[in-house]
Amino acid sequence: MTPREVRVSLPGRAYSVWVGADLLGRAHELIPLPEGAEIAAVVADANAAALHAERLESGLAAWGVRVERFVLPPGEGSKTLATIEALLRWLAATGAHRGDLVVALGGGVAGDIAGLAAALYARGVALAQVPTTVVGQVDAAIGGKCGVNLPEGKNLAGAFHQPVAVLADTSTLATLPDADFAAGLAEVVKHGLIDDGGILGMLEEGAVAIRSRDREVLGDLIARAAAVKARVVEADETERGARAFLNYGHTLAHALETLGGYRTWRHGEAVAVGMMFAAYLAPALGLADRVAAHARALEALDLPTGGASAPYEEIYALWMRDKKYRRGMRFVVLEDLGRPRLASGIADAHLRAAYEAVR
Ligand SMILES: NC(=O)c1ccc[n+]([C@@H]2O[C@H](COP(=O)([O-])OP(=O)(O)OC[C@H]3O[C@@H](n4cnc5c(N)ncnc54)[C@H](O)[C@@H]3O)[C@@H](O)[C@H]2O)c1
Repeated sequence: MTPREVRVSLPGRAYSVWVGADLLGRAHELIPLPEGAEIAAVVADANAAALHAERLESGLAAWGVRVERFVLPPGEGSKTLATIEALLRWLAATGAHRGDLVVALGGGVAGDIAGLAAALYARGVALAQVPTTVVGQVDAAIGGKCGVNLPEGKNLAGAFHQPVAVLADTSTLATLPDADFAAGLAEVVKHGLIDDGGILGMLEEGAVAIRSRDREVLGDLIARAAAVKARVVEADETERGARAFLNYGHTLAHALETLGGYRTWRHGEAVAVGMMFAAYLAPALGLADRVAAHARALEALDLPTGGASAPYEEIYALWMRDKKYRRGMRFVVLEDLGRPRLASGIADAHLRAAYEAVR
């Protein structure tokens, strides 16, 4: 089966996102090997490594290069500078040089860590992203943003380092736990809402096939959602404008996650509720009422449309403590489906009413 190709057309650094089933073993066909490369250094989180690294590595070995593997403990806790140092030192110990290739295997966490190490090692080595989560395939692996957390905040140490290719093998999604798979689809809904209404139709009509992880239906959906990210990155590579629209639903989501101590909500579930909040906000600002369209898409995938339990005062206090919001609260809202924009100076009564609607 020919994989679907989504191009990310950045001047001088264009690359392809390949989407389809059973692509890992074809890595040598789909990833351009840097000239003179002798080592492919796979950086994988332990879960993705156990399930998928062997197939990827046999695909890479077909080039005739030496394939090495660095395994990360799974989870956000690995996104530290200490991990980056360990990874850089491991690259040095393997004898990697500037012409070699780093290959990230796993979700957004592995991609962010491997990306930053690739940006730093020998002042930058080539990077291929092989995402194995929905979030990775439609968002994190595309666009070159990478980074780790500091005790002072999430993603505070990072870089932009575009990959030479992204391999989104939809077969790898079969091994994701159900709840993680569903939560990842919230980002697909988001891409449908902010840019491509066709995705919403695919989600509703194909809900059963998607939930049963039909590889072909998933391939069409992931390619379509990846194309939204590609377009946003092309328009705004370094996040000065349109890329902010990817934060649709995230202002409330981050507050819910923080107040829940990162245990109550999966990120995607919090984003689902955050998008409902934004949907309720829109008509209060004189914009189109698309609450029903939001609810239909999220419910088709069994994603939450409400259930926030924290009092509004706690949410608001949290926003006010955050420098980003104190300088002026800005929310991504939709003028209509596919037409996001930033709104600031929203009356507290509107914020409160929209929040009460998702409780
Ligand atoms: N760079 C960007 O533009 C960008 C965009 C969005 C998110 N992110 C980052 O991505 C991270 C979230 O990514 P995520 O949701 O993919 O989480 P993740 O990378 O933590 O992966 C989620 C879980 O799934 C496991 N896993 C991965 N692939 C698997 C598979 N095929 N089968 C079974 N288990 C598998 C992982 O080990 C992990 O336990 C956050 O750190 C976020 O900051 C970055």
